[in-house]
Amino acid sequence: MLEEFKLFINGQWTQTGETLDVIDKYTQKPFAKVYKAGEKDVDRAISSAETAYKKHQLTPYKRYQLLKKVSELLIQNKEDLAQTITKEAGKPLKQARTEIERGAQTFEVAAEEAKRISGEGIPVEAAPGSENRMAFTIKVPVGVVGAISPFNFPLNLVAHKVAPAIAAGNAVVLKPASATPLTAIKLAKLFQEAGLPDGLFNVVVGSGSTVGNQMMEDSRIQLYTFTGSAKIGLKLKQTTGLKKLILELGNNSPVIVDKEADVEQAANNIAQKGFAFAGQVCISVQRVYVHEAVKDEFQKQLLQAIKELKVGDPNDPETDVGPMIDEQEARRAEDWVKEAVDNGAELLLGGNRQGPVFQPTVVTNVKNDMRVVCEEIFAPVISLLDYQDLDECIDQVNQSPYGLQGGIFTKNLDTAFYAARKVQVGGFMINDSSQYRVDLMPYGGVKDSGSGKEGPKYSIAEMTEERLVVLNLKD
Ligand code: SIN
Repeated sequence: MLEEFKLFINGQWTQTGETLDVIDKYTQKPFAKVYKAGEKDVDRAISSAETAYKKHQLTPYKRYQLLKKVSELLIQNKEDLAQTITKEAGKPLKQARTEIERGAQTFEVAAEEAKRISGEGIPVEAAPGSENRMAFTIKVPVGVVGAISPFNFPLNLVAHKVAPAIAAGNAVVLKPASATPLTAIKLAKLFQEAGLPDGLFNVVVGSGSTVGNQMMEDSRIQLYTFTGSAKIGLKLKQTTGLKKLILELGNNSPVIVDKEADVEQAANNIAQKGFAFAGQVCISVQRVYVHEAVKDEFQKQLLQAIKELKVGDPNDPETDVGPMIDEQEARRAEDWVKEAVDNGAELLLGGNRQGPVFQPTVVTNVKNDMRVVCEEIFAPVISLLDYQDLDECIDQVNQSPYGLQGGIFTKNLDTAFYAARKVQVGGFMINDSSQYRVDLMPYGGVKDSGSGKEGPKYSIAEMTEERLVVLNLKD
């Protein structure tokens, strides 16, 4: 018998007519079932959120206490949650444990930020004719937030949507990825244990696009926060018209290895950061631009460091690279690499697949129009490109439609700051790779990588409205 998971609507554990199997991504066998939301369930989740938002105006301190409690409960339940992520996402256990710690951090930072939401004084009295007035702004919640989260961080990318929404005083309807719904449902249990009033957080699961589409078209949702593909991000934008959006979309992350880089540091860092969670991270290193002067040495050290990664069973606490989310995705990555090699790229490492496990792969002699370079591969594949002139390199980096995060390895500060100013991204790392993220920092891209920022402080700014209050005083 497979363990069953119910939906969380208006504080009730809700059973519906249909279920969805949740697959263990390594064995590729079902290990749990989750109830699927139909149209009426989604409607009830949204109306519960709307009612709860109007009924429970929690004080900032109460919001702080609730979120802090959830953060503590996450740590208390760390092992169970990490194992759930490992099974439902195929994420190696050590990375899943780190994700729980990060998720707890995200809740803790959001809790703290709940106490710091404030407007500002506006000096209207400086305008001629307004001498007897005073003004200030207050920050008010937007209302109901629709959150749609991806499979790659089943806890922490849910946390980045839900924790700031609650911190700002909103109610939330969450649709987690259908491939990885269980962690979000377990999070709902922790919210309940922490004492969140019914209806302020709801979890609805669907397969395909029906639940997401229904949410997108519902006028009771005031803001959407979404992580996923640029294609769906664009659809959300086109469907939701003038509503507020936080969109975290794709990237084909660039990292530059300058002639003055610490080559060993760069090689070790990129070996770790290009392949974590099998490259299925939006800021995973994908395009590595290496200066010709250090190319041979860097390549040698990189391949050596990658060969030390342990590939295979994600339940093994030593594993670095586990399966991809499904075999179809692993086949897609394999096809893209094969296509590059058929068109003249050189395969330096990997390229082979066992079921959903795709070996860490490095290709070189690639061209800018190959899919391994110009599209987001979202797989454990790195492309090496060499350059002589930094400006030409930056031009190539910026040819990408994406711009989430990037990085440079160099000991030369002038080179580092020059690149930081010129590379078109939302975040730029010096002597670290594109994959650096801690949860309090602003996180979001430019161009097709999206708009709006994550990081509790920044999401709260998006998830509140600034309201101006003007006093007309007596003379
Ligand atoms: C993402 O894939 O966008 C999230 C990366 C992270 O939080 O480390």
